[in-house]
Amino acid sequence: MNTIEEKMNRLTFLKQLGLTGASLMAVYCGVTMTSCTNEGDIAGPLPTGGITFDLSTTANAALRTKGGYVVDRTNNIVVAYTNVGTYVAVTLICSHEGQKKITYATDKFYCTEHGATFDNSGKGTNSNGSGGLKTYTVTQSGTILTVS
Ligand code: FES
Repeated sequence: MNTIEEKMNRLTFLKQLGLTGASLMAVYCGVTMTSCTNEGDIAGPLPTGGITFDLSTTANAALRTKGGYVVDRTNNIVVAYTNVGTYVAVTLICSHEGQKKITYATDKFYCTEHGATFDNSGKGTNSNGSGGLKTYTVTQSGTILTVS
């Protein structure tokens, strides 16, 4: 039985080899066959037809103000309204160590766990964010946003 410390040492070693994202997860999960639900990019596909957010509801009021964002923990999505007036959506799951702690602030996505930062296109902007974030398409029809 591997201890958590042994698993983390193995993960650190694989990262030092330059493996990131899917390749890292393929190797890491293949080696351990356990504990792969909280590490790496595990953002899955969204339901067919996408997820809708009604801007007229109180729950989504933050999306009516530039810089505001909403977290959908059911579908692991963060939707934000950028400072230039566009809607962007990314996975809630950080590519650094898989924590579901992505937030939005000052026109960028930010992970509260270890400080990874990502621009509005999901591209990492510091070392912890180097794996980037999975992004989704956002379309708007009236007050309804659809993330797919
Ligand atoms: S899990 Fe997000 S920065 Fe480490």
